[in-house]
Amino acid sequence: MSIAAEPTRLDPAWLSPQSLPTALALPATLYTDASILALEQLAVFARSWQLVAHAAQVAVAGDHIVTEVAGVPLLVVRGDDGVLRAMHNVCRHRAGPLATCNGRGARALRCKYHGWTYALDGQLRSAPEMGDACDFDVSAIRLPQAHVAQWQGQVFVALDAAPPLADVLDGIDARLGAHTLADYVFHHRSSYEVHCNWKVYIDNYLEGYHVPHIHPALNRMLDYRSYTTETTAWYSLQHSPLENSGGIYANGEALYYFVWPNTMLNILPGRLQTNRVVALGTDHCRVDFDFFYPADSVDAQQHMRDQNFSDEVQHEDIGICELVQRGLASGSYVAGRLNPKRESGVHHFHELYRRALREQAQHAASAG
Ligand code: FES
Ligand SMILES: [Fe+2]
Repeated sequence: MSIAAEPTRLDPAWLSPQSLPTALALPATLYTDASILALEQLAVFARSWQLVAHAAQVAVAGDHIVTEVAGVPLLVVRGDDGVLRAMHNVCRHRAGPLATCNGRGARALRCKYHGWTYALDGQLRSAPEMGDACDFDVSAIRLPQAHVAQWQGQVFVALDAAPPLADVLDGIDARLGAHTLADYVFHHRSSYEVHCNWKVYIDNYLEGYHVPHIHPALNRMLDYRSYTTETTAWYSLQHSPLENSGGIYANGEALYYFVWPNTMLNILPGRLQTNRVVALGTDHCRVDFDFFYPADSVDAQQHMRDQNFSDEVQHEDIGICELVQRGLASGSYVAGRLNPKRESGVHHFHELYRRALREQAQHAASAG
Protein backbone atom coordinates (compact mmCIF):
# COMPACT_ATOMS: atom_id res chain seq x y z
CA MET A 1 0.00 0.00 0.00
CA SER A 2 1.30 3.45 -0.84
CA ILE A 3 -0.04 6.87 -1.54
CA ALA A 4 0.98 6.41 -5.16
CA ALA A 5 -1.15 3.27 -5.34
CA GLU A 6 -4.22 5.12 -4.08
CA PRO A 7 -4.05 8.50 -5.82
CA THR A 8 -7.75 9.21 -5.54
CA ARG A 9 -7.90 8.57 -1.83
CA LEU A 10 -5.53 11.23 -0.58
CA ASP A 11 -5.86 14.82 -1.65
CA PRO A 12 -2.33 16.30 -1.36
CA ALA A 13 -3.89 19.42 0.13
CA TRP A 14 -4.81 17.37 3.20
CA LEU A 15 -1.13 16.78 3.87
CA SER A 16 0.15 20.35 3.57
CA PRO A 17 1.51 21.97 6.74
CA GLN A 18 -0.93 24.27 8.50
CA SER A 19 -0.28 27.14 10.86
CA LEU A 20 -2.05 27.01 14.17
CA PRO A 21 -4.13 30.21 13.85
CA THR A 22 -5.74 28.95 10.65
CA ALA A 23 -5.55 25.20 11.22
CA LEU A 24 -8.32 22.80 10.36
CA ALA A 25 -8.90 19.39 11.87
CA LEU A 26 -8.02 16.39 9.71
CA PRO A 27 -10.60 15.45 7.07
CA ALA A 28 -13.09 12.75 8.02
CA THR A 29 -11.77 10.42 5.32
CA LEU A 30 -8.54 9.97 7.24
CA TYR A 31 -10.55 8.56 10.14
CA THR A 32 -12.99 6.46 8.17
CA ASP A 33 -11.42 5.17 4.95
CA ALA A 34 -10.34 1.53 5.21
CA SER A 35 -7.26 2.07 3.01
CA ILE A 36 -5.73 4.62 5.36
CA LEU A 37 -4.70 2.24 8.11
CA ALA A 38 -2.51 0.18 5.76
CA LEU A 39 -0.78 3.38 4.75
CA GLU A 40 -0.37 4.40 8.38
CA GLN A 41 1.26 1.09 9.24
CA LEU A 42 4.09 2.01 6.87
CA ALA A 43 4.15 5.77 7.32
CA VAL A 44 3.53 6.02 11.05
CA PHE A 45 3.79 2.82 13.07
CA ALA A 46 6.72 1.15 11.29
CA ARG A 47 8.86 4.30 11.57
CA SER A 48 8.35 5.32 15.14
CA TRP A 49 9.07 4.08 18.63
CA GLN A 50 6.42 1.81 20.05
CA LEU A 51 6.16 1.20 23.77
CA VAL A 52 5.99 -2.58 24.16
CA ALA A 53 7.21 -3.63 27.59
CA HIS A 54 8.75 -2.55 30.84
CA ALA A 55 12.24 -3.60 31.76
CA ALA A 56 11.26 -5.95 34.61
CA GLN A 57 9.48 -8.16 32.09
CA VAL A 58 12.75 -8.84 30.30
CA ALA A 59 15.21 -8.64 33.18
CA VAL A 60 17.28 -11.79 32.68
CA ALA A 61 18.44 -14.00 29.81
CA GLY A 62 15.58 -15.74 28.06
CA ASP A 63 12.87 -13.42 29.36
CA HIS A 64 10.72 -12.39 26.42
CA ILE A 65 7.57 -10.62 25.44
CA VAL A 66 5.54 -10.97 22.26
CA THR A 67 4.01 -8.00 20.55
CA GLU A 68 3.15 -6.67 17.12
CA VAL A 69 4.14 -3.46 15.38
CA ALA A 70 2.71 -2.35 12.05
CA GLY A 71 1.38 -5.85 11.46
CA VAL A 72 4.73 -7.53 12.12
CA PRO A 73 4.84 -10.03 15.03
CA LEU A 74 7.82 -9.21 17.24
CA LEU A 75 9.66 -10.89 20.05
CA VAL A 76 11.67 -8.81 22.53
CA VAL A 77 14.14 -11.07 24.29
CA ARG A 78 17.08 -10.67 26.66
CA GLY A 79 20.08 -12.55 25.28
CA ASP A 80 22.66 -14.67 27.07
CA ASP A 81 24.99 -11.72 26.61
CA GLY A 82 22.59 -9.44 28.51
CA VAL A 83 21.62 -7.51 25.37
CA LEU A 84 17.95 -6.80 24.80
CA ARG A 85 16.92 -7.47 21.21
CA ALA A 86 13.74 -7.14 19.22
CA MET A 87 13.33 -9.62 16.39
CA HIS A 88 10.64 -10.72 14.04
CA ASN A 89 8.60 -13.51 15.60
CA VAL A 90 8.32 -15.17 12.20
CA CYS A 91 10.27 -18.36 11.58
CA ARG A 92 12.47 -18.43 8.48
CA HIS A 93 11.17 -21.90 7.59
CA ARG A 94 7.46 -21.41 6.94
CA ALA A 95 6.57 -18.40 9.06
CA GLY A 96 5.60 -20.09 12.29
CA PRO A 97 5.87 -18.28 15.63
CA LEU A 98 8.84 -18.69 17.92
CA ALA A 99 6.73 -17.70 20.90
CA THR A 100 3.02 -17.16 21.34
CA CYS A 101 3.02 -15.57 24.78
CA ASN A 102 5.33 -13.76 27.15
CA GLY A 103 7.75 -15.97 29.05
CA ARG A 104 10.69 -16.17 31.39
CA GLY A 105 14.12 -17.74 31.19
CA ALA A 106 13.90 -19.51 27.83
CA ARG A 107 17.14 -21.26 26.88
CA ALA A 108 16.44 -20.98 23.16
CA LEU A 109 13.64 -20.01 20.79
CA ARG A 110 12.01 -23.11 19.36
CA CYS A 111 9.50 -22.62 16.58
CA LYS A 112 6.08 -23.93 17.50
CA TYR A 113 5.50 -25.37 14.02
CA HIS A 114 8.35 -27.78 13.18
CA GLY A 115 10.88 -27.14 15.89
CA TRP A 116 13.60 -25.13 14.20
CA THR A 117 15.56 -23.69 17.07
CA TYR A 118 17.18 -20.29 17.31
CA ALA A 119 19.59 -18.90 19.88
CA LEU A 120 18.37 -15.98 21.98
CA ASP A 121 20.15 -13.60 19.59
CA GLY A 122 18.04 -14.84 16.66
CA GLN A 123 20.66 -17.04 15.03
CA LEU A 124 19.32 -20.39 13.78
CA ARG A 125 21.00 -23.22 15.67
CA SER A 126 19.27 -26.36 14.48
CA ALA A 127 16.66 -27.52 12.00
CA PRO A 128 15.46 -31.10 12.54
CA GLU A 129 15.80 -33.64 9.72
CA MET A 130 17.04 -31.16 7.13
CA GLY A 131 20.02 -33.34 6.19
CA ASP A 132 18.72 -34.01 2.66
CA ALA A 133 18.42 -30.32 1.81
CA CYS A 134 21.17 -29.11 -0.54
CA ASP A 135 23.02 -25.91 0.18
CA PHE A 136 21.16 -25.45 3.42
CA ASP A 137 23.35 -23.46 5.77
CA VAL A 138 22.00 -23.10 9.30
CA SER A 139 24.56 -20.42 10.09
CA ALA A 140 23.23 -18.18 7.30
CA ILE A 141 19.73 -18.00 8.74
CA ARG A 142 18.70 -15.59 11.44
CA LEU A 143 15.63 -13.71 12.50
CA PRO A 144 15.39 -10.13 11.20
CA GLN A 145 15.90 -7.59 13.92
CA ALA A 146 14.09 -4.41 14.86
CA HIS A 147 15.50 -1.54 16.90
CA VAL A 148 15.11 -1.51 20.66
CA ALA A 149 15.77 1.26 23.17
CA GLN A 150 14.87 1.99 26.76
CA TRP A 151 13.90 5.04 28.75
CA GLN A 152 13.18 5.16 32.47
CA GLY A 153 12.47 1.45 32.60
CA GLN A 154 10.21 1.48 29.54
CA VAL A 155 11.11 -0.62 26.49
CA PHE A 156 10.42 0.74 23.03
CA VAL A 157 10.91 -0.88 19.64
CA ALA A 158 11.06 0.58 16.15
CA LEU A 159 10.53 -1.65 13.15
CA ASP A 160 12.31 0.58 10.65
CA ALA A 161 14.42 3.70 10.84
CA ALA A 162 13.19 6.13 13.50
CA PRO A 163 14.88 9.11 15.09
CA PRO A 164 16.96 8.10 18.14
CA LEU A 165 14.68 7.56 21.14
CA ALA A 166 16.83 9.92 23.21
CA ASP A 167 16.12 12.66 20.66
CA VAL A 168 12.41 11.91 20.64
CA LEU A 169 12.20 12.18 24.44
CA ASP A 170 14.73 14.99 24.81
CA GLY A 171 13.76 17.32 27.63
CA ILE A 172 11.48 15.00 29.60
CA ASP A 173 14.19 13.91 32.03
CA ALA A 174 15.12 17.54 32.66
CA ARG A 175 11.46 18.36 33.35
CA LEU A 176 11.21 15.49 35.81
CA GLY A 177 14.41 16.55 37.58
CA ALA A 178 15.25 14.26 40.46
CA HIS A 179 11.91 12.55 40.01
CA THR A 180 13.06 9.29 38.46
CA LEU A 181 10.52 6.83 37.14
CA ALA A 182 12.95 4.02 36.38
CA ASP A 183 12.49 2.26 39.70
CA TYR A 184 8.73 2.53 39.76
CA VAL A 185 7.20 -0.93 39.95
CA PHE A 186 4.62 -2.24 37.50
CA HIS A 187 1.29 -2.74 39.23
CA HIS A 188 -1.19 -3.86 36.60
CA ARG A 189 -2.58 -3.31 33.10
CA SER A 190 -6.09 -2.22 32.19
CA SER A 191 -6.99 -2.47 28.50
CA TYR A 192 -9.93 -0.82 26.83
CA GLU A 193 -11.28 -1.46 23.37
CA VAL A 194 -12.72 1.66 21.83
CA HIS A 195 -14.84 1.79 18.70
CA CYS A 196 -13.16 4.74 17.12
CA ASN A 197 -10.20 5.40 14.88
CA TRP A 198 -6.94 5.52 16.83
CA LYS A 199 -6.47 9.19 15.91
CA VAL A 200 -9.84 10.12 17.40
CA TYR A 201 -8.64 8.76 20.71
CA ILE A 202 -5.35 10.64 20.46
CA ASP A 203 -6.96 13.90 19.34
CA ASN A 204 -9.18 13.70 22.38
CA TYR A 205 -6.21 13.07 24.67
CA LEU A 206 -4.40 16.08 23.32
CA GLU A 207 -6.69 18.81 24.49
CA GLY A 208 -8.12 19.92 27.79
CA TYR A 209 -10.82 21.88 25.97
CA HIS A 210 -13.29 19.06 26.61
CA VAL A 211 -12.44 18.56 30.28
CA PRO A 212 -15.12 20.89 31.71
CA HIS A 213 -17.75 19.24 29.54
CA ILE A 214 -16.83 15.56 29.65
CA HIS A 215 -14.99 15.09 32.96
CA PRO A 216 -16.76 16.93 35.80
CA ALA A 217 -14.78 15.24 38.59
CA LEU A 218 -11.42 15.69 36.87
CA ASN A 219 -12.29 19.29 36.18
CA ARG A 220 -12.56 19.93 39.93
CA MET A 221 -8.99 18.66 40.43
CA LEU A 222 -7.31 20.45 37.54
CA ASP A 223 -7.00 24.19 37.21
CA TYR A 224 -8.49 24.72 33.78
CA ARG A 225 -7.28 28.33 33.59
CA SER A 226 -3.70 27.20 34.27
CA TYR A 227 -3.94 24.19 31.95
CA THR A 228 -1.03 24.60 29.54
CA THR A 229 0.17 22.79 26.44
CA GLU A 230 3.79 22.83 25.28
CA THR A 231 5.05 21.20 22.13
CA THR A 232 8.50 19.97 21.08
CA ALA A 233 9.80 18.16 18.02
CA TRP A 234 8.30 14.78 18.88
CA TYR A 235 6.10 15.16 21.92
CA SER A 236 3.70 17.51 23.58
CA LEU A 237 3.13 18.13 27.25
CA GLN A 238 -0.10 19.20 28.85
CA HIS A 239 0.27 20.20 32.46
CA SER A 240 -1.86 21.60 35.19
CA PRO A 241 -1.65 22.13 38.92
CA LEU A 242 -3.38 19.23 40.66
CA GLU A 243 -5.27 19.77 43.88
CA ASN A 244 -8.51 18.91 45.67
CA SER A 245 -8.39 15.31 44.52
CA GLY A 246 -10.07 14.12 47.70
CA GLY A 247 -7.10 11.97 48.65
CA ILE A 248 -6.73 10.24 45.31
CA TYR A 249 -3.46 12.08 44.68
CA ALA A 250 -1.13 14.29 46.63
CA ASN A 251 -1.29 17.93 45.58
CA GLY A 252 1.28 18.73 42.93
CA GLU A 253 1.28 18.74 39.19
CA ALA A 254 -0.31 16.59 36.52
CA LEU A 255 1.96 15.98 33.52
CA TYR A 256 0.40 14.47 30.42
CA TYR A 257 3.02 13.64 27.81
CA PHE A 258 2.05 12.53 24.36
CA VAL A 259 4.96 10.97 22.44
CA TRP A 260 4.55 10.58 18.72
CA PRO A 261 2.70 8.67 17.45
CA ASN A 262 0.71 6.72 20.08
CA THR A 263 2.32 6.74 23.51
CA MET A 264 1.15 8.67 26.55
CA LEU A 265 2.98 9.12 29.84
CA ASN A 266 0.61 10.32 32.54
CA ILE A 267 2.72 11.39 35.49
CA LEU A 268 0.93 12.38 38.67
CA PRO A 269 2.38 12.65 42.18
CA GLY A 270 3.50 9.12 43.10
CA ARG A 271 2.22 7.46 39.97
CA LEU A 272 3.18 6.78 36.36
CA GLN A 273 0.61 5.52 33.95
CA THR A 274 1.61 4.67 30.40
CA ASN A 275 -0.85 4.36 27.54
CA ARG A 276 -0.26 2.73 24.19
CA VAL A 277 -2.96 3.18 21.57
CA VAL A 278 -3.07 0.19 19.23
CA ALA A 279 -4.97 0.53 15.96
CA LEU A 280 -7.06 -2.61 15.48
CA GLY A 281 -9.04 -1.38 12.48
CA THR A 282 -10.27 1.80 10.86
CA ASP A 283 -12.85 2.40 13.58
CA HIS A 284 -11.48 0.23 16.35
CA CYS A 285 -8.54 0.63 18.70
CA ARG A 286 -7.31 -0.70 22.00
CA VAL A 287 -5.65 1.36 24.67
CA ASP A 288 -3.37 -0.37 27.16
CA PHE A 289 -3.01 1.42 30.47
CA ASP A 290 -0.05 0.26 32.57
CA PHE A 291 0.13 1.52 36.15
CA PHE A 292 3.44 1.99 38.00
CA TYR A 293 4.04 3.17 41.56
CA PRO A 294 7.21 3.87 43.53
CA ALA A 295 8.61 0.73 45.13
CA ASP A 296 7.94 2.10 48.60
CA SER A 297 4.34 3.01 47.78
CA VAL A 298 2.29 0.22 49.32
CA ASP A 299 -1.03 1.92 49.99
CA ALA A 300 -3.40 -0.48 48.27
CA GLN A 301 -6.39 1.74 49.00
CA GLN A 302 -4.74 4.68 47.34
CA HIS A 303 -3.82 2.57 44.31
CA MET A 304 -7.42 1.43 44.08
CA ARG A 305 -8.71 5.01 44.23
CA ASP A 306 -6.27 5.97 41.46
CA GLN A 307 -7.37 3.08 39.26
CA ASN A 308 -11.07 3.62 39.86
CA PHE A 309 -10.79 7.28 39.06
CA SER A 310 -8.75 6.57 35.93
CA ASP A 311 -11.41 4.08 34.85
CA GLU A 312 -14.16 6.66 35.37
CA VAL A 313 -12.31 9.24 33.25
CA GLN A 314 -11.54 6.63 30.62
CA HIS A 315 -15.19 5.66 30.24
CA GLU A 316 -16.10 9.31 29.82
CA ASP A 317 -13.49 9.60 27.05
CA ILE A 318 -14.59 6.37 25.38
CA GLY A 319 -18.18 7.59 25.26
CA ILE A 320 -17.35 10.82 23.50
CA CYS A 321 -14.75 9.26 21.17
CA GLU A 322 -17.25 6.68 19.93
CA LEU A 323 -19.82 9.38 19.27
CA VAL A 324 -17.21 11.45 17.40
CA GLN A 325 -16.39 8.44 15.23
CA ARG A 326 -20.07 8.20 14.31
CA GLY A 327 -20.06 11.90 13.45
CA LEU A 328 -16.98 11.50 11.27
CA ALA A 329 -18.51 8.52 9.46
CA SER A 330 -21.86 10.23 8.93
CA GLY A 331 -20.93 12.01 5.73
CA SER A 332 -21.98 15.26 7.36
CA TYR A 333 -18.65 16.43 8.67
CA VAL A 334 -16.34 18.88 6.91
CA ALA A 335 -13.05 19.51 8.73
CA GLY A 336 -13.60 22.30 11.26
CA ARG A 337 -11.36 24.97 12.76
CA LEU A 338 -9.10 24.13 15.68
CA ASN A 339 -8.98 26.33 18.76
CA PRO A 340 -5.46 27.85 18.80
CA LYS A 341 -5.58 28.46 22.55
CA ARG A 342 -6.81 25.02 23.55
CA GLU A 343 -5.94 22.64 20.71
CA SER A 344 -2.27 23.32 19.97
CA GLY A 345 -1.51 19.72 21.01
CA VAL A 346 -3.97 18.41 18.43
CA HIS A 347 -2.42 20.65 15.78
CA HIS A 348 1.07 19.43 16.74
CA PHE A 349 -0.05 15.80 16.34
CA HIS A 350 -1.67 16.56 13.00
CA GLU A 351 1.49 18.30 11.76
CA LEU A 352 3.57 15.23 12.61
CA TYR A 353 0.94 13.02 11.02
CA ARG A 354 0.80 15.04 7.80
CA ARG A 355 4.59 15.05 7.60
CA ALA A 356 4.77 11.28 8.09
CA LEU A 357 2.32 10.76 5.23
CA ARG A 358 4.18 13.22 3.01
CA GLU A 359 7.44 11.39 3.69
CA GLN A 360 5.80 8.09 2.89
CA ALA A 361 4.58 9.52 -0.42
CA GLN A 362 8.12 10.65 -1.24
CA HIS A 363 9.47 7.29 -0.22
CA ALA A 364 6.95 5.49 -2.42
CA ALA A 365 7.71 7.82 -5.33
CA SER A 366 11.47 7.35 -5.05
CA ALA A 367 11.00 3.59 -4.78
CA GLY A 368 9.31 3.80 -8.16
S1 FES B 1 7.75 -22.73 10.42
FE1 FES B 1 9.24 -22.72 11.99
S2 FES B 1 10.01 -24.69 11.98
FE2 FES B 1 8.61 -24.68 10.38
FE1 LIG C 1 -10.68 13.26 28.30
